[in-house]
Amino acid sequence: MEFTYGNSTTILFGQGQIAAIKKQIPAEKKVLVIYGGGSIKSNGVYDQVAAALSEHQWQEFSGVEPNPTVETMDKAVAIIKEQGIDFVLAVGGGSVIDGSKYAVAAAKYDGDGWDILIGKHKVTEAVPLAAVLTLPATGSESNAGAVLTQAATKTKLPFGSPAVQPIFAVLDPDTMKSLPERQLKNGLVDAWVHICELYVTTKKEGAMVQDGYSEVLLRNLLTLAKDYDSRDNDGWRSNLMWTANQALSGLIGAGVAQDWATHMIGHELTALYGVDHARSLAMIQPALYRNQIEAKRAKLEQMGTNVFALESGSDLAERTIEAIEAFYHSLDVATQLTDSGSDKITTVKDILANLEAHGMSTLGENQAITLDESRKILEASVA
Ligand code: NZQ
Ligand code: ZN
Repeated sequence: MEFTYGNSTTILFGQGQIAAIKKQIPAEKKVLVIYGGGSIKSNGVYDQVAAALSEHQWQEFSGVEPNPTVETMDKAVAIIKEQGIDFVLAVGGGSVIDGSKYAVAAAKYDGDGWDILIGKHKVTEAVPLAAVLTLPATGSESNAGAVLTQAATKTKLPFGSPAVQPIFAVLDPDTMKSLPERQLKNGLVDAWVHICELYVTTKKEGAMVQDGYSEVLLRNLLTLAKDYDSRDNDGWRSNLMWTANQALSGLIGAGVAQDWATHMIGHELTALYGVDHARSLAMIQPALYRNQIEAKRAKLEQMGTNVFALESGSDLAERTIEAIEAFYHSLDVATQLTDSGSDKITTVKDILANLEAHGMSTLGENQAITLDESRKILEASVA
């Protein structure tokens, strides 16, 4: 085990914490509030943010779409540059926060912002950013990553830089009250897969802290899914919000192997067919685990025992994958792609072509998921 670990985002957790923004953003800052399609206008979050900023100089940029595009966010970049904005407050889900991460980085770069996603420009500075989270799922509110789409080419790519890590994040579970069921379920699934990407890998010497905490977080999500009828309850909401945050805030990924193949293949499903991020993961992961079962067997067995409380046996890894599928199905989340709009052969071919074009020809913790393995996975994932 060898790692450098830190998480510099201050978390302001609990009901009423949006008011704390007032003291967290220095009074002299010129603030740009960035948000999405308007959910914050109808659920009172916008009004709370406006009240907290009443003594600040601020303006707004709205219309960030789910799976944010550089085409939209470049308009925010222009505002930041032209208006001399020196603090950005992202108010929304992962898309708004990711879009804002791109905007604060691109605002300090004179070239084409897409260079950040293709690795041509390495982000070392950004306008300071903070977040008010309204959808627990991605962990973007306290990590250094973001995923942006270039709509023109249907390309969805990630980037990361400590410079875009939010300075603080408000996590008020009351903001979740207006979430549609679909998004609540997406949150459970996305957080689940984040933990899996860091935990269901080829077992080496065993990292007791990272593994043990991963298992706690996975069991939390199972419990919340089982108690789904209690979703309109303060405790349920708080526990989902904090669990989803912890899933991707750095600790369980420190010093351990990381997979991310499910995410990279899933991103292509979103870019090509508009599948919700979390749902794209549920469509890929079971087939991917069956494809990589020998490399992941020991960890799947550990998960079967410690998370699902399954009986031991030579087929424990196989039964663990079935239990993961049952978890998704219990939430009415599909584990196969059924609506690509074209036949199966064409769909698999199109996804593979995009994986290749985006440099995703070897994936997984062992780089063992070549395009040929991705093809086998997709043949099982596409109905
Ligand atoms: O745009 P508005 O009107 O706000 O509506 C949103 C959107 O339609 C709505 N919503 C959010 N909060 C709400 C609400 N509706 C009612 N009440 C509320 N409180 O929910 C819809 C989806 O929002 P979105 O932000 O797209 O969802 P999510 O948080 O799942 O973010 C998904 C994006 O994050 C990326 C994904 O790829 C995808 O682009 N990811 C980012 C990661 C990161 N930065 O670490 C990691 C993840 O793996 C993921 O890839
Ligand atoms: Zn995700």
